[in-house]
Amino acid sequence: MSTPTPPPPLNYRDWEAAARDRLPAMVYDYYAGGAHDEITLAENRTALDALRLHGRVLRDMSRRSPVTNLLGEELAFPLVVAPTALHEMACAEGEAATARAAGAAGVPLILSTLSNVAVEEVCAASTGPVWFQLYVQRDRDRTARMVERAVQAGCSALVLTVDAQTWGIRERDERNSFRMPEGLVMRNLAAAEASGRFPEVEGSGLAAYVTENFDTALSGKDLEWLVETAGVPVLVKGILRADDARRAVDHGAAGIMVSNHGGRQLDTAPASLEVLPAVAAALRDSGVPVLVDGGIRRGTDIIKALARGAHAVAVGRPVLWGLAVEGEAGVARVLATFHDEFDRAMALCGARSVEEITPDLLSPPPPSHP
Ligand code: GLV
Repeated sequence: MSTPTPPPPLNYRDWEAAARDRLPAMVYDYYAGGAHDEITLAENRTALDALRLHGRVLRDMSRRSPVTNLLGEELAFPLVVAPTALHEMACAEGEAATARAAGAAGVPLILSTLSNVAVEEVCAASTGPVWFQLYVQRDRDRTARMVERAVQAGCSALVLTVDAQTWGIRERDERNSFRMPEGLVMRNLAAAEASGRFPEVEGSGLAAYVTENFDTALSGKDLEWLVETAGVPVLVKGILRADDARRAVDHGAAGIMVSNHGGRQLDTAPASLEVLPAVAAALRDSGVPVLVDGGIRRGTDIIKALARGAHAVAVGRPVLWGLAVEGEAGVARVLATFHDEFDRAMALCGARSVEEITPDLLSPPPPSHP
């Protein structure tokens, strides 16, 4: 008797389960895990699940469009692929496969500093916008060279991560002595003076790499330097407070990403969706777009984020699961599912455009007469 073939993944849980079956436990844990007790990691989801959508009816939904504009670029729908590291651990083609799928889906890919495939190769593979996520290195010349490489390769925006003053303690990685599988290199960081590999240590090799190389002195001045030198818009990722959002904009940020780094840095930081309204309100008059990540898994989550003031969401782990299970085709299917779910959620919420996704979808006004 032959074993029945499992049904194809239908939703994010199926993709994650299939990826978990395929990946070495150390790799799955690195992608899936968070800091310490993983309280923030879980709360990103519970905050979204707790919101209720008050969809509007009796509106003609036969014509609707999920298309949006962000930083001068047209997106098929308000989603960008969040920066996640080390895609060759999921699939041999690594970030080149992710970039092809994102480009074909009409959404930007934010490429991590910690990618395995070099930024030049990723930009060449993609037919869509690639933004470069930057971790500022202690060696500023190396940082400047990396920025120059990214812009020359064709990245149309930079995303400066500001919540990694030090590495969050990810106990799964410590227990697993997390290291990159044999033969993999972080190509944006590999140069004459640097191997682009983790040091041989007990515990997490990535944490040791970050401690050796990332700059704990990152400040507003660095953001100003980046804005002045980059020649492309600079977004700031890792903001959870309205005052920090305003400061980042004062220093020249062209966009803000509300993010707790997928619960991987400061555990017990608030859920992204919880703090999003305060950040969005603080920036409303500035016209600076607000993105949010952390637990976005459904089309309805995108509606909730937009109704709370975001212009777009970023999605990380589900893309990795698609990549691990079916490579480029898996990422394409994950993104297509988000697109389809979002389009249907728009219809069921009575929103014909992203502009019609307004706060009343989460708390409708009370009736004006009894
Ligand atoms: C990389 O950015 C990570 O959070 O592991």
